[in-house]
Amino acid sequence: MATKKVVRVRVDRERCQGHARCAALAPELFGLDQFGNGRELGDGTVAEALEAKARLAQTNCPEFAIDVIEE
Ligand code: F3S
Repeated sequence: MATKKVVRVRVDRERCQGHARCAALAPELFGLDQFGNGRELGDGTVAEALEAKARLAQTNCPEFAIDVIEE
């Protein structure tokens, strides 16, 4: 039986400079912490319907701080 892939997003806390594009483009997946830095919501799991948005956020982060991980 094929295992279904799980896609997760993760914000690299060291790289993020608070540009907030992630939260603007994919508010279902990212929020901002009290310092205005991006954070993945919950455990970062991306519903299949939101995968394109996850990649959009990744390509629009000027600091390359967003990882999209397939497990
Ligand atoms: Fe940070 Fe990039 Fe989002 S710099 S706030 S992860 S767009």
